[in-house]
Amino acid sequence: MNILGIESSCDETGVALVEVTAQELPRLRAHALHSQVEMHQAYGGVVPELASRDHIRRVIPLAENVMRDAGVALTDIDYVAYTRGPGLAGALLVGAGVACALAAALQRPAIGVHHLEGHLLSPFLSVDPPTFPFVALLVSGGHTQLMRVEDAGRYELLGETIDDAAGEAFDKSAKLLGLGYPGGPALARMAEFGDPRAFDLPRPLLHSANLDFSFAGLKTAVRTQVMKLGSNVCEQDKANVAAATQQAIVDVLVRKSLHALRETGCDCLVVAGGVGANARLREQLNAACAKRQVRVHYPELALCTDNGAMIALAAAMRLQRGSASASIDYAFSVLPRWPLATA
Ligand code: KG4
Ligand code: ZN
Repeated sequence: MNILGIESSCDETGVALVEVTAQELPRLRAHALHSQVEMHQAYGGVVPELASRDHIRRVIPLAENVMRDAGVALTDIDYVAYTRGPGLAGALLVGAGVACALAAALQRPAIGVHHLEGHLLSPFLSVDPPTFPFVALLVSGGHTQLMRVEDAGRYELLGETIDDAAGEAFDKSAKLLGLGYPGGPALARMAEFGDPRAFDLPRPLLHSANLDFSFAGLKTAVRTQVMKLGSNVCEQDKANVAAATQQAIVDVLVRKSLHALRETGCDCLVVAGGVGANARLREQLNAACAKRQVRVHYPELALCTDNGAMIALAAAMRLQRGSASASIDYAFSVLPRWPLATA
């Protein structure tokens, strides 16, 4: 059985084809991605209307590439999956519209998928897949959550950010340092040359009893620090602020993840979402988990940020369990705000 997955919730158009059998883990046959980063760079962030228009331009050529790479005809598609939410309404509508039109033309069911479910299941496409149950640390541009994952489709929210997401903290701090968009990778590169102890930045909610996060105070502290350094700040000071900021975010993410593992008794951690690509975060989580005999799983680097493979995969794993909401009337709606626990 073949599932076509379409992702268009933000600034990446992703299309992929995943093959499913009854028992085995789904297998990725081909995927293609177009990142809009360059287009949004001039504005210092994602411009929703430009994002929607670009998804329209890209999605069909990407789908054609995927079908060609997989060596599969459109008529061999059994289901069309798309990101139903959360995300930018206009951007989501493009993927949903194309997916449902294609499904209708092929007379195949369409499946609306939760974007974060895609992220947290994405390590199942890696060479070393996790096993249920596990704790998932979801760290993207819009979300920072800890979940207990019993099985595909069974998610319990353990804690989340009460203000900015971890990715947002990276992005906003990078902007304050004049590093451009997207800030996460740029700040991480700059941090390589800095001393994380050069500046003392806050680690909000580090010692709180619950599993919630808060990053807005950190951003304010970075702004204050940057203002103190003034307009002719040297590159070394910038690198030091970048390193200190990254370390503050990583410290909080590592500590809260360990807390969640202790609280749930799970011995497996999945890290998903764009910030999961951060090398410092990986290094420190790996070290902390190795000490505690906890296995850590990440998606393949190419599948860390948004992509169509994770959307097809989530639909596939739900289909294997009989819990996919496949539609054959092709009416669709998108859900820009959509708590995962209700998906
Ligand atoms: O999951 P994702 O691709 O899109 C969302 O659904 O938000 O995550 C994007 C976020 C951005 O905030 C970006 O700056 C951050 O992930 N990011 C990173 C790194 N690569 C991407 N943050 C820190 N270090 C990185 N290497
Ligand atoms: Zn995402």
